[in-house]
Amino acid sequence: PLPRDSLLVLHLVCLLLGTCDLPGAGAAVETAFKPNILLIMADDLGIGDLGCYGNNTLRTPNIDHLAEEGVRLTQHLAAAPLCTPSRAAFLTGRHAFRSGMEATNGYRALQWNAGSGGLPENETTFARVLQQHGYATGLIGKWHQGVNCASRSDHCHHPLNHGFDYFYGMPFTLINDCDPARPPEVDAGLRARLQHYTQIMALGILTLAAVRACRLIAVSWRAVAGMSGVTLVFFVSWYASFGFVRRWNCILMRNRDVTAQPMTLETTTSLMLQEAVSFIERHKHGPFLLFVSLLHVHIPLVTTKAFLGKSRHGLYGDNVEEMDWLVGEILRAVDENGLKNMTFVYFTSDHGGHLEARDDRGTQLGGWNGVYRGGKGMGGWEGGICVPGIFRWPGVLPAGRVIHEPTSLMDVFPTVVQLGGGQVPQDRTRVMDGHSLLPLLQGAAPHSAHEFLFHYCGKHLHAARWHQKDSGRVWKVHYVTPRFHPEGAGACYGRGVCPCSGEGVNHHNPPLLFELSSDPSEAQPLSPDSEPLYHAVIARVAQAVAGHRETISPVPEQFSTSNIMWKPWLQPCCGQFPFCSCQEHGSGPP
Ligand SMILES: *[C@@H]1O[C@H](CO)[C@@H](O)[C@H](O)[C@H]1NC(C)=O
Ligand SMILES: *[C@@H]1O[C@H](CO)[C@@H](O)[C@H](O)[C@H]1NC(C)=O
Ligand SMILES: *[C@@H]1O[C@H](CO)[C@@H](O)[C@H](O)[C@H]1NC(C)=O
Repeated sequence: PLPRDSLLVLHLVCLLLGTCDLPGAGAAVETAFKPNILLIMADDLGIGDLGCYGNNTLRTPNIDHLAEEGVRLTQHLAAAPLCTPSRAAFLTGRHAFRSGMEATNGYRALQWNAGSGGLPENETTFARVLQQHGYATGLIGKWHQGVNCASRSDHCHHPLNHGFDYFYGMPFTLINDCDPARPPEVDAGLRARLQHYTQIMALGILTLAAVRACRLIAVSWRAVAGMSGVTLVFFVSWYASFGFVRRWNCILMRNRDVTAQPMTLETTTSLMLQEAVSFIERHKHGPFLLFVSLLHVHIPLVTTKAFLGKSRHGLYGDNVEEMDWLVGEILRAVDENGLKNMTFVYFTSDHGGHLEARDDRGTQLGGWNGVYRGGKGMGGWEGGICVPGIFRWPGVLPAGRVIHEPTSLMDVFPTVVQLGGGQVPQDRTRVMDGHSLLPLLQGAAPHSAHEFLFHYCGKHLHAARWHQKDSGRVWKVHYVTPRFHPEGAGACYGRGVCPCSGEGVNHHNPPLLFELSSDPSEAQPLSPDSEPLYHAVIARVAQAVAGHRETISPVPEQFSTSNIMWKPWLQPCCGQFPFCSCQEHGSGPP
């Protein structure tokens, strides 16, 4: 076979002559050249946190430079406003409810490594398709798509069972509980309940003992003793719950082995970097797919000394600047291995910044969503779903181009599958929601392939977008919006994130209508008086929603209570359960 560089030249010549077009149709392209693919996803980063999206006080020079060398999207939309469902949609190119990875009510993301829910085995990720087309595939960082189904080592939801040859990172996600110095997050509810029950039981025993002592009614001492036993169990559980979540959720794995339990936060950033660079070096003869799923910039905002106190935006700003540095180092590894022109690079965030994240003194710990209304957890408002979207492939994608067309994170699936010469899975039960971005990114198509996009909060449709191509207007119709707390606050302070259904939302009939190209902040709802097309737009979008609804069929729910629950027999563990404990010995990957 020809060396990769000459294949690249051939490929570029063929692109220039227009004798083949990239859209994998040409068999020539398929066999000729497969670029490396590097996908970088930040966690909870707001679109307004980056210099290239208008921030002039946070320093993100590496990501800004990436945008200068490539294409930047300004209307790039996450399929869900929360980690697990957004990532499930990203990995599969399909809305998360199609794989059961969306909440009906109740929990909206996986809560434990030892739950049985997760990305079902019959879903196809882009990693699986590329793996079948000769790519070395790796995932470094956060997964949050489940681990096991029925036993501790079946690894049915694990990255290695979803098309990745190599995994290093957290099967779960960073949370405050991972840091013993921070107030607990997942723990808090459980602990409060246990404490509450312990108190009630203790009160009950005292009452019972008093009643027995005064011989008011017949109670046996045995009943009192029994109740004391139960109370003791509650008390012990409450006591043990300190550090419980940390041990079970805050772990690192290399492939199927747990390498740190609980993980040490201080060393994670350097481990992630080392792993990413080493993967690139190991596979520089390519082609490779590397998905770097950053732990930054989720709370607890673990930041190394070099960046602490250096930004103008507190701990959050420090963490963003450290993330930018990390991205820069990974890109440097690509460049220094001579892979820059053969690597397709993408940078994004899983959803909008977390407005409700604040410390006890009220200091903002979450991201900034720029001019957009709302944030993490809000499926309808732009701030929850409008994220950065940057693509670089020197010589193939134009440098410094900015595209304002609506696109989705679900588009990355068909895009990279096409680049790798694969086929988007086609069967009747597997509806694809993404469209390849290549024609748009290369400038071959003036418009995004999306005329309508549907915006979900859990399994509830909150809003829909219509890109009216002939007029260039972008209409957004809201059927449901969250009730802010306090009213008018623009977020749900004290509630974690805003709810998707029930008492916590308002239903709009008639729906709210905005025109995003003139009102990106969704500040001025239109009315039949102010907008002559009001009724026509509402009717057209309603028709599209009805058509979309016909594509939905029920699948097993991954977030059901029984799937979400912590199950000791599913707990990934190093050592003998329940004495799971180990620390990384600083040894690198194989
Ligand atoms: C830059 O980001 C910080 C931190 O999120 C935010 O507080 C600030 O408002 C942003 N500045 C601009 C101009 O968007
Ligand atoms: C990479 O591509 C750019 C843009 O087409 C070109 O200017 C540069 O010379 C290429 N570098 C190498 C090493 O081929
Ligand atoms: C996966 O399996 C579930 C349960 O058997 C089924 O409902 C679903 O349609 C399947 N999904 C695909 C894409 O085949």
